[in-house]
Amino acid sequence: MIRNILVIILLAGCIFGDEYHSHHKPSTVKKSSNVINEQERTTKYWVNQAQDTLKKIVNKKLNTKNATNIIMFLGDGMSFSTVAATRMYLGGEEKKLSFEEFEYTGFSKTYCVDAQVADSACTSTAYLNGIKTNYEVIGLNAKATVADCDAQLDDKIWTESILRWAQKSHKATGIVTTTRITHASPAGGYAHVSERDWENDHEVSLSGCDPNKVDDIAEQLVYNVEGANFKVILGGGRANFINQTEKDEENNNGKRHDGKNLINVWKNERSKLGKAEYIWNKQQLDSLDYNNTEYLLGLFEHDHMRYNMDVKAQGLVLEPSLSDMTSAAIKMLQKEDGGYFLFIEGGMIDQAHHYNYAQISLDETKEFSDAIALARKMTNEEDTLIVVTADHSHVFTYSGYPERGSNIFGAVEVSDIDELPYATLSYANGPGFAHTFVDGKRVDPNTVGMDDPKFQYPATVPREKDTHGGEDVAVYASGPMAHLFSGNYEQNTIPLIMAYIMKIGPYAAEEKSASCAIMPVFMLLLSMLIINKLIK
Ligand SMILES: *[C@@H]1O[C@H](CO)[C@@H](O)[C@H](O)[C@H]1NC(C)=O
Ligand SMILES: *[C@@H]1O[C@H](CO)[C@@H](O)[C@H](O)[C@H]1NC(C)=O
Ligand SMILES: *[C@@H]1O[C@H](CO)[C@@H](O)[C@H](O)[C@H]1NC(C)=O
Ligand SMILES: [Zn+2]
Repeated sequence: MIRNILVIILLAGCIFGDEYHSHHKPSTVKKSSNVINEQERTTKYWVNQAQDTLKKIVNKKLNTKNATNIIMFLGDGMSFSTVAATRMYLGGEEKKLSFEEFEYTGFSKTYCVDAQVADSACTSTAYLNGIKTNYEVIGLNAKATVADCDAQLDDKIWTESILRWAQKSHKATGIVTTTRITHASPAGGYAHVSERDWENDHEVSLSGCDPNKVDDIAEQLVYNVEGANFKVILGGGRANFINQTEKDEENNNGKRHDGKNLINVWKNERSKLGKAEYIWNKQQLDSLDYNNTEYLLGLFEHDHMRYNMDVKAQGLVLEPSLSDMTSAAIKMLQKEDGGYFLFIEGGMIDQAHHYNYAQISLDETKEFSDAIALARKMTNEEDTLIVVTADHSHVFTYSGYPERGSNIFGAVEVSDIDELPYATLSYANGPGFAHTFVDGKRVDPNTVGMDDPKFQYPATVPREKDTHGGEDVAVYASGPMAHLFSGNYEQNTIPLIMAYIMKIGPYAAEEKSASCAIMPVFMLLLSMLIINKLIK
């Protein structure tokens, strides 16, 4: 009863408090009709709605088990405003993305050791390796100066990723991304570089470093112990694996200058351990013989994978979706004994924001949400922890005051100063600036092609690409000990919490004698790999 009264008082406060906005009577150019459910005009509707939610909160049962499996989903650049705007893309303010149904949430603080606003390199070191480091540095602590050739040769400053912790506890591991597989976020799982751009040997040379001494990220994926153990690797970025004079399956040139074909090296090396399959298109993924594949490498583009909107619009049948890759990776890992750790990135949310492509970014966020829904369906909440977070925010804004149900991609009428409509979505900086102002005057966004999926939303400051944002990002968790993710913490706490829940890394249980028996074999195989690398 007391709860009922409190809810009603709170509601009343909101209703009167809202009067403040009434003189800004909003109206928009485009909106869907009849969006307001008439029930919403009653007190009962909202009280019931809130009570249902409260009932779920009160009845939550703590899952205090250890996690057998963990799937970490990373929405690159998936800020709070991105999530909120995507609800409109799904059909209304009241909609939820799949992971918004997760029972526990927290906040992650994303700054890096030398940067107020983070990039995807220092953040992947934080959320996968458990330490904050410098901007553009991956898998090394902040003693590493950016682009210092010698930094990564000093293994005292190397950090270990949670994927490695999982491997050491005999868990199967894998990585999936819609970007190049050598891009900063997945690289946090396996690479140690002082410059995230060193995705191939040529980039190392361009920084004035010796590529014979300084291994690039693609090489590290193929030769390093982390990468050597991955059972599944799916993403884009073939070009970093083959020589510039060589063409890939889709007739694109490679980027390497050292003559290596790292795809062939991967295949040869992994074949020594089990059946290894390299694939480059969706049809091969669809027809994969899972029972007969122990190691899977799928590189589906020469560069980043395509935006889902382009795939749909252009009928790009060779391109798997993030959900396709998620499903494949889970199937690959589920057949392993003893559990797994899987890292999955929706990387194009960030890429689209950088070009102020708000429509594409929200579509990629929806794709990300769909992949998480599928993963939750394919796994059991009792033994599989799913953690969803972002690495950093973007300078992406969801402005007032459109009417309820307004087209999220439309404009609000009108500014009380220059009397022109303005887009609901906009950016503090980025290429959209070009048609935001002309001759010092603001442009009506409706007159410059807002319906185009690749419309670059207005930006206040001109930049080739928009910047990331400095505020916190959300963490959503479901499954064993998901409640541990509640609160506000530094981003590098995330892998420690996951490790605690899986009892790996710093929280690994003592080795049992049964698993000790297989260790010598394991070590022998690893040494063979390392020796192989040394004599290459
Ligand atoms: C979780 O793992 C720890 C360490 O191995 C163990 O002591 C504990 O009993 C486990 N908890 C459950 C609920 O199985
Ligand atoms: C690899 O590419 C570089 C740069 O284009 C070229 O100079 C070299 O000859 C190529 N190596 C091989 C083995 O084809
Ligand atoms: C793969 O193995 C599983 C378990 O042994 C079996 O149920 C399934 O039918 C097999 N699938 C194929 C395609 O052989
Ligand atoms: Zn970015």
